[in-house]
Amino acid sequence: MEKANELPVKAVDAIEEAAGTFPGYRRAHAKGDYYEAVFTPNGKASAFTTAPHLLHTPVPAIVRFSNSSPNPTHADALTPPKGMAVQFQLPDGSVTNLIAVTIPIFFAKTPEAFVEIMKFFKSAEEGIPNLKELMKIAVNYPESKVSFKMIKEMRSPLSFAMARYFSIHVFNFINKDGRKQPIKYQWEPDAGLGMYGKLEAADYSADYLNEELTERVEREPVVFTLMIQLGEEGDPTDDPTAAWPAERQTIEIGHLTISKKLVDPPDMVLFDPTIVPEGIECSDDPILHFRHDAYAVSYNRRIHGK
Ligand code: HEM
Repeated sequence: MEKANELPVKAVDAIEEAAGTFPGYRRAHAKGDYYEAVFTPNGKASAFTTAPHLLHTPVPAIVRFSNSSPNPTHADALTPPKGMAVQFQLPDGSVTNLIAVTIPIFFAKTPEAFVEIMKFFKSAEEGIPNLKELMKIAVNYPESKVSFKMIKEMRSPLSFAMARYFSIHVFNFINKDGRKQPIKYQWEPDAGLGMYGKLEAADYSADYLNEELTERVEREPVVFTLMIQLGEEGDPTDDPTAAWPAERQTIEIGHLTISKKLVDPPDMVLFDPTIVPEGIECSDDPILHFRHDAYAVSYNRRIHGK
């Protein structure tokens, strides 16, 4: 049987075997830039949670937008899923992270499935499986099918500021009376949604997304609205491959205003999705908890070279 602490190492090894090793870079979402922001809550989340950054007072934040590929030289148009990692600075000096991507579900239900699926990526050219490979994965992991179909159909956004980002995982909000409410987060772009056509983005520079956002924030602030979807009895809380019904109630809980690119990239930052303050608990999703250990392995390799 697999020792629990070996699997995160295997997962990061599997990514490196599939896509290559790029010293100094994150082992996934390798290419990205940092921005300075302020999150202003509107008070509506206070019915559901005591988390300080979601109540009434604005807090500073840093944001990293990224390409999902583990290869930092991959062109933006080549890997449509994009990442938006936000670190909120809390009044007591601690931080909490909210990491989201432009797809609402993940392709693996368990860490073991993630490692197995990566082996298929390894056999594929440039770490991007073709349709035949994806079909083989779908036979062994039917729950991955919907997510792969979405990835295949995805287009690159016109701008990092014109995409919707999802937390995928469920978190439990706890209010002042101790009541627990499962939620999923979603960032809605105030600039609206915009996607390139199938081949259009390929005409743009390999780094067009960071270039575009750098110019955009010099012109005007980039704003995202934070939404929470409220889970109901029977909605899965432990399965990142499963979406909740679209009709679930969604509430707007605040705005993130991104105003400036950070010239001195703080590359020691580790966006661990399990770092949550009082008033928020991680759900029982095994992928969410696994990310804590897998990201630590990647962090040690990129910062300490081991
Ligand atoms: C088995 C599951 C997963 C594994 C093994 C994995 C692996 C990784 C690794 C190794 C990194 C680099 C960490 C670092 O060096 O700081 C990373 C970053 C990232 N991952 Fe995952 N990941 C998983 C699931 C997910 C899911 C479900 C999401 C959806 C929200 C996600 C979104 C991201 C994003 C946005 C980043 C970039 C964060 C940043 O800007 O620092 N990952 N992932």
